[in-house]
Amino acid sequence: MEQRTIKIFDTTLRDGEQTPGVCLDTAEKMEIAQTLAKMKVDIIEAGFPIASPGDFAAVSEVAAKVKGPTIAGLARANIADIDAAYKALKSAEAARIHTFIATSDLHLEYKLKMTRAAVLEAAEAAVRYARKYVEDVEFSAEDASRSDRDYLCQIIECAIRAGATTINIPDTVGYTTPEEFGGLIRYVRQHVPNIDKAAISVHCHNDLGMAVANSLAAIQNGANQVECTINGLGERAGNAAMEEIVMALHTRPDYYKATAAIDCKQIYKASRLVSILTGVAVQPNKAIVGENAFAHESGIHQHGMLNNPLTYEIMRPENIGLNRNALVLGKHSGKHAFEDRLKDMGYELSSDKVSEVFTKFKALADRKKMVFDRDIEALITEKANNQTEWYRLVFHQVMSGSNTSATSSVEIESNQGIVKQAACGDGPIDATFKAIEAATEMNTTLKDYQIKAVTSGEDALGEATVWLEKEGRVASGRGLSTDILEASAKAYVNALNKILTMGSRSGTNIDTEGN
Ligand code: KIV
Ligand code: ZN
Repeated sequence: MEQRTIKIFDTTLRDGEQTPGVCLDTAEKMEIAQTLAKMKVDIIEAGFPIASPGDFAAVSEVAAKVKGPTIAGLARANIADIDAAYKALKSAEAARIHTFIATSDLHLEYKLKMTRAAVLEAAEAAVRYARKYVEDVEFSAEDASRSDRDYLCQIIECAIRAGATTINIPDTVGYTTPEEFGGLIRYVRQHVPNIDKAAISVHCHNDLGMAVANSLAAIQNGANQVECTINGLGERAGNAAMEEIVMALHTRPDYYKATAAIDCKQIYKASRLVSILTGVAVQPNKAIVGENAFAHESGIHQHGMLNNPLTYEIMRPENIGLNRNALVLGKHSGKHAFEDRLKDMGYELSSDKVSEVFTKFKALADRKKMVFDRDIEALITEKANNQTEWYRLVFHQVMSGSNTSATSSVEIESNQGIVKQAACGDGPIDATFKAIEAATEMNTTLKDYQIKAVTSGEDALGEATVWLEKEGRVASGRGLSTDILEASAKAYVNALNKILTMGSRSGTNIDTEGN
């Protein structure tokens, strides 16, 4: 069967990072980018270099160190943005400048305050300018799905003439429907005379829950690149979920007659990594990667499954790298068994990282009878490689009970030495956070706090996530421990470290929507 290959353009690090409350530092972005490279995505959109010094640094590092995929950087249709994008991308093996401008009358009138003719000119000039730097230039017509079709076709023709090699047609506000969007792609193919000189990409948002369906309809109508994110992260309700698009193509080649060159066995691991590092949980009933995606509750289903898994399962969990019969490790498991388990789980870690995680595993196994894959994943991702530790929690103790206010004592180490502080609070968590604030004098504001168990059971590992804000910078921190107070204290210190790292590259963040 003749099959087209659809390019996967992952924007987890750019649009995904625009998910409310998500903030990744460079070390975390690198870890996600390396995983995406291992998955064999075609293009990684690493960020929006002019948006902030942190974004610029992250794009530069991904460009310099991540091999395999093309690395893209976003730029509005102006010289400063394109210069910044090129500067950040220039050491990439293969670099793409992705420049965009809105094309709907609504955006032209109320956001850009520009005429159609002026937008056309800006788009053409931007593509021409970007082509001076790189051969691979993508042009996006923001809000394309609500743009006048003939004007859209005119601007696409112009962008291709100026040198765009990929044309992206976004459904920026998640407004369209599969039939309508498929029709739009068809219309563009029929009405843009030079369309065969560029690849057609789509970028769908999920406001009405149709991002994946719209992307697939676009593929059926000739799109050959889809923009998507792991777990469907992204602005507002998110983007099309990569794992859903890829597995739809993989499961229904008879119908879509298209495939993607993704190593599907990395999907589950990538989903967990992104969920852990962003602090955004995956809903249990989420397609492909949700906790229940391969769980069979009813007796009738279980009976059918035992006779033949195909009765109720259209995909095998193994195909996405989910091992159903994961071995459980315990305190008597040695380093060899541990390393074998890591390999089975698809991790290839440096020997230093293996030793670091093995030490944590031993400490955990002393406190917890059975150590599951999820515990190991959590330990691996507890601290991204190369993350700077400005502060370290050395000790903490809490006293609390009914009819008495909670008191917490902490010892925090920095390069100035160890500072001890104690504080009272409205409960043990509040007291601990106040003691850490007093020891570090950071003056941050607590924006959010969550605690959840990594696995089930009374001795489960607790995972705390803390979101802190300081002078407009928001960072999330994670902490793990079988003791939830310790997990919370570690999460707080981790968030402080991230705020300090962001501050060390201080600069003003810009509004990415303000074309
Ligand atoms: O949603 C959108 O239109 C975008 C563009 C910048 C591609 O994210
Ligand atoms: Zn978007």
